[in-house]
Amino acid sequence: MLSWDEFENEETAVAEKPQAAPQPAAAQPAPAPQAAPAAPVTASQPADMSAQERAREAINNIDVAPGLEDLEMGAARIEVDDKRMINCRADLNQLVPFKYDWAWQKYLDGTANHWMPQEVNMNADIALWKSQDGLTEDERMIVMRSLGYFSTADSLVANNLVLAVYRLITNPECRQYLLRQAFEEAIHTHAYQYCVESLGMDEGEVFNMYREIPSIAKKASWSLSHTHSLSNPNFSTGTPETDQELLRNLIAFYCVTEGIFFYCGFSQILSMGRRNKMTGVAEQFQYILRDESMHLNFGVDVINQIKIENPHLWTPEFQAEVTQMILEGTELEIEYARDTMPRGVLGMNAGIMEEYLKFICNRRLQQLGLKEQFPGATNPFPWMSEIIDLRKEKNFFETRVTEYQVGGALSWD
Ligand SMILES: [Fe+2]
Ligand SMILES: [Fe+2]
Repeated sequence: MLSWDEFENEETAVAEKPQAAPQPAAAQPAPAPQAAPAAPVTASQPADMSAQERAREAINNIDVAPGLEDLEMGAARIEVDDKRMINCRADLNQLVPFKYDWAWQKYLDGTANHWMPQEVNMNADIALWKSQDGLTEDERMIVMRSLGYFSTADSLVANNLVLAVYRLITNPECRQYLLRQAFEEAIHTHAYQYCVESLGMDEGEVFNMYREIPSIAKKASWSLSHTHSLSNPNFSTGTPETDQELLRNLIAFYCVTEGIFFYCGFSQILSMGRRNKMTGVAEQFQYILRDESMHLNFGVDVINQIKIENPHLWTPEFQAEVTQMILEGTELEIEYARDTMPRGVLGMNAGIMEEYLKFICNRRLQQLGLKEQFPGATNPFPWMSEIIDLRKEKNFFETRVTEYQVGGALSWD
């Protein structure tokens, strides 16, 4: 427990240290140099004149510095209409005036929902995981596979954001959200690591599943195949082909990886939590799902804005290609469902999950303005929509914040 009183006491203690009794020689810190240096240094006489001269020369040469974006002195002030989602030439270092208020609002919502993995109590999970008959073998496999997929999936997303997407989105308010999202991905990876550590799992086994378990490896490889060209530092947008390549990446990561690949594992773990099993892991997944639903909505808004500003990119051929990408993602997730649920478990089975994933597939296509591929697919897990529903988010987090303070991590008095 940390309080401001203790903090002040700590300060006083530090301040008093110099007056304490002399310590034995071995514990003494190295004495400050007393002797004059070989070449006396004064404020007006630098030790290394040539270094000073080089520094002055460099400063004198600062003009229109070449960098990520050129800085043009005396350029006209930014107008909202100058701003564009991609290939924008306006100054990207100025956040305002906002053009995409929805992006700024998502940034504010993301920061309002801040949470950390250590705030979740894992004691009941540890006891259940270590007990001999607490979970069935099928339930244990679902926990292992979920942590196996997600422990590296969020790193794939974060690396794609930072190393591929960020520089190509030429809008400051969207970049502000991307920075927030990147931090949330770090928190998610932290959450999975925290679960693995709390439960005493073999971390090598869990973190290598994306290279060792075929149904997980296929999903990871599919995502990675869509980041290769953009993560090349020489890649740039500006032609219809390269602009479409950026769109492919955004669709692969926002709509498929975060919008489909996460949904079987999320619903399995949340179903477990609803049955009062692995409630700490389920709570972590609940926070993550809320963040992820915002990532997905942000991505869909960005993709649709690029379409509005560049209608020539959204050709019938390209629409057919995107539809196929969403179908590929759905099929991979159905395979994952079959692999992780060879039998019925937790009130679900691979067939029910397939119906759910077809419903999710329709939703993703519809969000991009594309035709549904599974007409009539219904949602067998309406409780998932309730958890995702952002309108409930506020109450949920208000509850958590109260518990957080009572829990003793911080004291405000
Ligand atoms: Fe994430
Ligand atoms: Fe995400």
